[in-house]
Amino acid sequence: MRKRSSTALVSALISAAILAGVASAGLSDRWWSPGEDRDLPASISYENEYGSLTILNANGAVRTKGHPFFEPIGHNGRACVTCHQPSDAMSISVTTLRDRWAQTGGKDPVFAAIDGSNCPNLPQNERASHSLLLDKGLFRIFLPWPLKAPDGKAITPEFTIEVVKDPTGCNLHPVYGLQSKNPTISVFRRPRVVGNLKYVTQVDRIAMPFEVKSGEPLAVDPSTGERVSMNIMSDSREPTLRTQAANAALTHLQAHQGLTDAQLQQIIDFEQQLYVAQSFDRRAGDLTKAEGPPGLGPAAMLRGTPGILANGATNHLFGSFEAWSGSGADSADPGAAFKASVSRGAALFQTRTIWVRDVYNFNTLGVGNPQKRNCVGCHNMSMTGLDVAPGYMDLGTANLPHSEAGDDLPLFKLTCSPKAAPHPYLGRVIFTHDPGRALVTGRCREIGAITMQQFRGLAARAPYFSNGSAATLRDVIEIYDRRFDMKLTEQEIQDLTNFMSVL
Ligand code: HEC
Ligand code: HEC
Repeated sequence: MRKRSSTALVSALISAAILAGVASAGLSDRWWSPGEDRDLPASISYENEYGSLTILNANGAVRTKGHPFFEPIGHNGRACVTCHQPSDAMSISVTTLRDRWAQTGGKDPVFAAIDGSNCPNLPQNERASHSLLLDKGLFRIFLPWPLKAPDGKAITPEFTIEVVKDPTGCNLHPVYGLQSKNPTISVFRRPRVVGNLKYVTQVDRIAMPFEVKSGEPLAVDPSTGERVSMNIMSDSREPTLRTQAANAALTHLQAHQGLTDAQLQQIIDFEQQLYVAQSFDRRAGDLTKAEGPPGLGPAAMLRGTPGILANGATNHLFGSFEAWSGSGADSADPGAAFKASVSRGAALFQTRTIWVRDVYNFNTLGVGNPQKRNCVGCHNMSMTGLDVAPGYMDLGTANLPHSEAGDDLPLFKLTCSPKAAPHPYLGRVIFTHDPGRALVTGRCREIGAITMQQFRGLAARAPYFSNGSAATLRDVIEIYDRRFDMKLTEQEIQDLTNFMSVL
């Protein structure tokens, strides 16, 4: 209940701000509908709860007419931009989804039955049929089960899947479910940021051609045979932006025909020159000032170098916040106390002790369990907080007993074969809301492993975690506090929250 009401409050605050004329763009200007003929400017800012976010097109303004990222290519009237909105850091926030529902009476293509509702068979004009989208910003991701390898061959999974709870009705449905003619598993996930992608697609050069954690070969780009980053999508199922876009057109857009090579290239070219970050904060003011911290704002993302490991106390993840550390004493600056808090938050992120325990792909790496680390122990790639190695881990966000995802998501019981290597901490019978990486590999030990996503534009795209289980940035911190028994003080929670709100 606490989570819902805090999101509702945020929604009300933003609506009030917009009515009062505080926002620079009205709601209708914020929303990018498919098939419009207007320019996405080289640089454009949008207000959010904490300040504003700026989108930077490094190659200049983008004409949307005829552009496959912005055109409704499929038959449900959606474009890529429908779920990857510039105002929302190229993801989409639950606040925006609710506003859209209110404005269009639920008729906007974003609510399309296929994945914008809890299940396509439900009465589409009722709010309850879209509750996961409207409460938590979650789209239905439907994947074939048993899974298929990229070459189309069936993979024999190490586990069987039983549906324990099916609040959406989709996993037990005779047409859409696991027992249907085309057996399908439905999980529910947040859209991810389409921007700053040079960081996301950066291949881990340290361990190449192997995946540093598992020692197995990294996945390859099917068109070039080259190794890939394995950081795209929350289960790393898409090797490249090309395969991702091709599949997104067939699923989310319900395109009857695949995108042409030229269209795919146009999408990738657009995505790769796009940078996004928070640029203004209500308390700190302009985040991009020359004398301020150097890592903030989208231009810093454009300048930055991907793939740099920044996991110590001194090699700063998002650049140094030294410039703000002393500002607590500067009483002439009304934002001084806030800046000092952000600066402390940045330091806590690098140094605050966490006894990390029972995390697959972390404690399993021979480092001990528990292992004394900090936030950058996992979120270690400079400028984004991604993992320089493929970032899928079972943090506990999807699996019981730690998941805080709630009763509105499906719950599965996975039973692993006695021959399979078990999940190191959960054994061979695992209850999960989303098997994550295991839906791609079929491996018991990878059940519930979720690939982390970049930290930029967090202020514009609540809720957080792949399954939306943290409604606010503060909730993210509180979930870590509970998960690892961190005993954070109120000041530490506030400092870490403030730090994340300016990225
Ligand atoms: C109905 C909403 C929706 C539409 C339309 C949509 N996406 Fe997405 N997008 C998502 C969701 C949800 C995810 C995360 C899926 C997951 O983690 O399994 C995602 C993930 C992505 C990612 C991965 C980013 C990362 O860092 O992992 C990219 C890139 C992307 N989408 C591009 C596109 C493109 C290109 C199109 C149009 C062809 C498109 N999307 C259309 C919802 C959508
Ligand atoms: C043991 C590794 C690990 C540690 C330590 C860790 N994280 Fe994470 N973090 C992850 C993984 C994995 C995810 C993705 C989980 C998901 O989406 O379900 C994640 C996701 C996040 C997200 C969500 C981003 C989004 O866009 O939804 C935030 C924010 C975050 N972490 C902040 C932190 C903070 C703050 C700390 C320190 C208190 C921290 N993390 C410590 C592994 C870790």
